[in-house]
Amino acid sequence: MAGRIPQAFIDDLLERTDLVELVQRHVSLKKSGSEFSACCPFHAEKTPSFYVSPQKQFYHCFGCGAHGTAITFLMEYENLSFPEAIDQLAEWAGLEVPRESTGPDTEPLAPLLEALEAASRFYVDQLRQTPAAIDYLKARGIDGSTARDFSLGWAPAGADALARALGNRFGTETLIAAGLVARRDDGSIRDRFRARIVFPIRDRRGRVIGFGGRLIEAGEPKYLNSPESAVFHKGHTIYGLYEARRAETRLAELVVTEGYMDVVGLARAGFRRAVACMGTALTRGHLELLFRQVPHLVLCFDGDAAGRRAAWRSLEQALPVIQGMREVRMLFLPEGEDPDSLVHHEGLEGWERRLAGSSVLSETFMYLLREHYPLDTAEGRSQCAHAAVTLIRTVTDPLFRTQLCDLVAEHTRTPRAQIFEMLGEPADAPDRVLPAQARTSGAGQDRPGQGASHLWSALLARVMQCPQEDWRDPALEQLRSAGGRGPEILGAILDRIRANPGITTARLLEQFREESYFARLMALAGQSLGGEDVELSRRVALDSARRLFREHCRERIRNLSARVDRPLTGEERTELRSLQSLLAHDLRPDETRE
Ligand code: UTP
Ligand code: MN
Repeated sequence: MAGRIPQAFIDDLLERTDLVELVQRHVSLKKSGSEFSACCPFHAEKTPSFYVSPQKQFYHCFGCGAHGTAITFLMEYENLSFPEAIDQLAEWAGLEVPRESTGPDTEPLAPLLEALEAASRFYVDQLRQTPAAIDYLKARGIDGSTARDFSLGWAPAGADALARALGNRFGTETLIAAGLVARRDDGSIRDRFRARIVFPIRDRRGRVIGFGGRLIEAGEPKYLNSPESAVFHKGHTIYGLYEARRAETRLAELVVTEGYMDVVGLARAGFRRAVACMGTALTRGHLELLFRQVPHLVLCFDGDAAGRRAAWRSLEQALPVIQGMREVRMLFLPEGEDPDSLVHHEGLEGWERRLAGSSVLSETFMYLLREHYPLDTAEGRSQCAHAAVTLIRTVTDPLFRTQLCDLVAEHTRTPRAQIFEMLGEPADAPDRVLPAQARTSGAGQDRPGQGASHLWSALLARVMQCPQEDWRDPALEQLRSAGGRGPEILGAILDRIRANPGITTARLLEQFREESYFARLMALAGQSLGGEDVELSRRVALDSARRLFREHCRERIRNLSARVDRPLTGEERTELRSLQSLLAHDLRPDETRE
């Protein structure tokens, strides 16, 4: 891997980056009070709920919950990795990214990518000189311009045509590492792709990372793919994604097919929103990757039994990733057809009609369940409900969960409450997300654990969101000295605020990307404080800190007084007395009932 990027550079980069300007490159923002708003680029909506704060350098969508910094925005919007997002920002800022060297080979990927790109050019060139390959594509309806859009090529039949063409420039070891050639037992070098139409596979930035190759005559295997390599990971790659994004700027939906030819055939017919997962089963990782691009997905399946098995597997993968406005639809094709053959037989219009008839995930969910567990007997209905509950447990979106439960209750003639009970949830769960002010008003303290976690949220959200405040206060110092995880995190945040006067929320946040609690901090940084002003934020934060500290003292007193295994040491007795007097002096009227 490339070397580590120094934290100080990331901080400097964020200081030079304006999130408003960055977002504006992709989304048209309108001024709205002290912030900017737009329709959210991460989900489909008609009224704006996406806000960018120039002060915090932080964005937040009240519709789908997307939030983060300039780095997060690039990672999510352009599907870049963290180092790629940094590279991108640095390029705009005109800075060179320094890398802390982690060993002798700090940039091993560049030669691989160059070799793959050169191979792709070689194959394209070969295609031009090979009438048999051109005829094959023509016979399948692929014209020159589509072939160009996808950089289709031809790998010659010779044993080592590519190795000979590129060997001098890149060296055999690089070609092997890129998966382009292999060494045989006798030591000779052989091209991986021979006598095949090749489909270059690109990453999100358009760099060639591997190939798929198809024989033009009967033979085995019909398709051959690049092996996994340092740059090619099937689980993180979707064929055609780069091409689809390039063809349509405001992409809202992608259709996931099975094969290279489906993507290319549909593009030829004028449908440029198809991608493929290259013969492997669609995973949750693929779905997450796709949902970072668009809110709507359509998954295609064959109409036969194998297709339904694949649909069942995809359903299991999809349920946990559904959130907010994300939507998965499933399309079952007539037996013996794939999207490529279908668009040939029925034309673009026929294909789009089929797409319009695809069913939403919840429908497919019931449809597949009913197929396994016929609902015409009591046994079938109860088995169906059991199976459904097992699946619903994997759903993370609470609203979608409720909808599925209702659906199952209705179809299996089971009382709603019983379905929820099996899931371990009350049918009418009280609103667990209290507004910030209510949380700190002292009510509902009968469950100390939960109360404390709300108090921590209330405190940290405000410190994260107002890092330009002067947070020097005895209440905070007291709490951070209490020891434990919460106080440690608070201490780390306060130290960074103190060391960087004027720091923005985004810069502060990015200092913690490596920490296990990063996601939680990011959520707190984006949490709505209901428009409260800084003064109120400060009061709520300090009040939360005092309460947390008192909770800590009580806990410690409980532990010390409950000690039965041995008498308290002198030191412990002193501690106990000082804790008791601390509490007594600090006690407020509203707390005497305890
Ligand atoms: P299919 O066998 O359905 O082929 O494989 P297809 O997409 O209809 O292709 P054509 O129309 O015959 O040209 C679907 C996908 O499964 C993978 C490939 O990614 C292919 O696109 N596959 C298939 C392989 O990896 N190896 C194979 O031998 C066959
Ligand atoms: Mn096909």
